[in-house]
Amino acid sequence: MEDKFSRLSKMKEEALLGGGAKRIDAQHKKGKLTARERIHLLIDEGSFEEIGQLVVHRSTDFGMEKQQFYGDGVVTGFGKVNGRLVYVYAQDFTVFGGSLSETHAEKICRIMDLALQNGAPVIGLNDSGGARIQEGVNSLGGYADLFYRNTIASGVIPQISAIMGPCAGGAVYSPAITDFILMVDKTSYMFVTGPNVVKTVTHEEVSSEELGGANTHASKSGVSHFTALNGPDCIMKIKRLLSYMPQNCDEDAPVYAYTAGDESRPALDTIMPDNPNQPYDIRDIIHEVVDAGSFFEVHETYAENIVVGFAFMGGKSIGIVANQPAVLAGVLDIEASRKAARFVRFCDCFNIPLVVFEDVPGFLPGTDQEWRAIITNGAKLLYAFSEATVPRITVITRKAYGGAYDVMNSKHIGADMNFAWPTAEIAVMGPKGAAEIIFKKEIEEAADPEAKLQEKINEYTETFANPYRAAYRGFIDEVIKPSETRMRILRSLDMLKNKAAKLPRKKHGNIPL
Ligand code: HXC
Repeated sequence: MEDKFSRLSKMKEEALLGGGAKRIDAQHKKGKLTARERIHLLIDEGSFEEIGQLVVHRSTDFGMEKQQFYGDGVVTGFGKVNGRLVYVYAQDFTVFGGSLSETHAEKICRIMDLALQNGAPVIGLNDSGGARIQEGVNSLGGYADLFYRNTIASGVIPQISAIMGPCAGGAVYSPAITDFILMVDKTSYMFVTGPNVVKTVTHEEVSSEELGGANTHASKSGVSHFTALNGPDCIMKIKRLLSYMPQNCDEDAPVYAYTAGDESRPALDTIMPDNPNQPYDIRDIIHEVVDAGSFFEVHETYAENIVVGFAFMGGKSIGIVANQPAVLAGVLDIEASRKAARFVRFCDCFNIPLVVFEDVPGFLPGTDQEWRAIITNGAKLLYAFSEATVPRITVITRKAYGGAYDVMNSKHIGADMNFAWPTAEIAVMGPKGAAEIIFKKEIEEAADPEAKLQEKINEYTETFANPYRAAYRGFIDEVIKPSETRMRILRSLDMLKNKAAKLPRKKHGNIPL
C-alpha cells in the first residue's frame, strides 16, 4: 500500500512542477506568474479542486512519446471566488509553451461542460504558444471544440478571458467569443497573424506589442475590455468583475449590504456648465449617483465618447451607459455604438438593470462614418436597447438630439422610466442648425440676417430645446432636479425589480452584425 501512496505522491509532485524548475524560473524572469500561482491568487484558499491533474498527451510524432508532463500544459478545475463557484483553466507556459494539444483541449472542454451544466462562470487564464505544432489537425480540432462550447455557453454563463502571455493565431477566437477580455500590460499580446507574417504580406514593420499588446487592444481595436498592470492586478480585476455578475442567466447578481440614508446629492445641482456647449466629464455625474466607489469602467480607453461600466446602487448591480460630452461632445459613432451595444447585451443576458445618462448631439457625420457603415453599426445599439428586457432607466442631462434621442434608451424603444434634468434639450437638432434650415428664407431676406438668425435660434430654443415638450407627451416621465437623480433611480429600480417582460417566440433575432 505504501508503495502505491508513494507513487501517487511522486506523480503529484511532478505535476505541481509543470515543465520543471528551470522553466518556472524563466517564466518569473519574464515577470509572469505560473499557472498554479495564478489559480492560487484567484481561488479562495483551500477551495480549489483540480480535475485531470495526471492527464498526459497521446502524441507519438516527433519523439513526443518521450516528452510527457502531467496535466499536459493546462491546470483545470473548480473552486470558489469570494464564496461563489467558478470553473477555471490556466494554461501552463512551462509545458510546451502552454500550447494546445488534443488532450489539453479536452481538459478545458470538460470544465466548460461542467460549468454549463451547473450554471457557474468560466474563467480562462491564457498563456500559450497556440496550437501544439507537433499535433497538427488534432490540435486545430481541439480549438474548434472550445470555440463551439464558448458559443453554446454564451448568454448562459459568464465567460471571462485573461490574456497573461502570448495568444496568437486562431487561438484568439476563444477569448473573442467570451464576454470579457483582460490583458496584462507588456507581457501579453493577441493577434491572428504575428509580426513576421505581417512583414511578409504587407511589408509593415511592427512589434508584437504594437501589433497586439494590451494598450493596442484597449484603445485601438477594442478587443480587450481591461488592462492590468501585472498578473496579480489582473486577478484582482477578474474578482471585481465577477462581483457584479450572477452565476448564470437564470439568477440575479448578488446583492450587497446597504443601509439607506440621505440619497439626495446636492453637488449635482451645480455640475452642469452654464454654456450648453461646454464639455464636462460624465464620470463626475456617474460617481455622484452610484454607491460610493462602486463604478467599474469597461473599455475605459476605447471609444471614449461613450462610457460603459458596472456599479452598485443600493447594493445591487447595474450597468451604466453614458454619453461622454468631454470627448467629441459625446457624439455617437461606429465604435461607440458597437461598444455600448455589446455591453447592453451582456447586461440583458445576465439580468443586470441598465441606467443610461444621455447627453448626445447626434450621430457623427462624414464620409468616413458613412462608408464604414455607421448605419449598420448605429443600428446595433438601437437593436440592443430595443431587445433588452431588463429594467431600463434613462436620465437626459442635456442634449438628446435627432436619431440619437431614439437610440439612447428612449421610452419608444422600451425603456421603463425616463427622467430629464431641467437643462435637457430634446429636439431634432441643435437650435442653430434647425433655425438655419427652417427659417432660411426669412433670415436671408432680413435687413440684419445675423440678428434674425439669433432671434430664430432663441425662438427654437424656447420651443424645443428644453425637456417640457417631451414631458407634455409623456415621453419623459418626470423632469427632476439633478440632486434628486440618485433617489429617483433607486426608487425606480425598486419598483422594477420584478419586471417580467418577454419577447415574442423566435429562434433568435438577427442583429445587424
Ligand atoms: C509546441 C511550442 C509552441 C507550439 C512554443 N512551444 N510554442 N511547442 N507548439 N505552438 C514551446 C517551445 O518549443 C519551447 O519549448 C517552449 O514552448 C517555450 O517557447 P519559447 O519559444 O522558448 O518561448 P518564447 O521565446 O517566450 O516565445 C514564445 C512564443 C514562441 C512567441 C509563443 O514560442 C512562438 O512563436 N511559438 C509558436 C507560435 C505559433 O506559431 N503557434 C501556432 C499559431 S497558429 P522548450 O522545450 O524549448 O522549452 C495556431 C492555429 C490555431 O495557433 C488555429 C485555431 C483555429
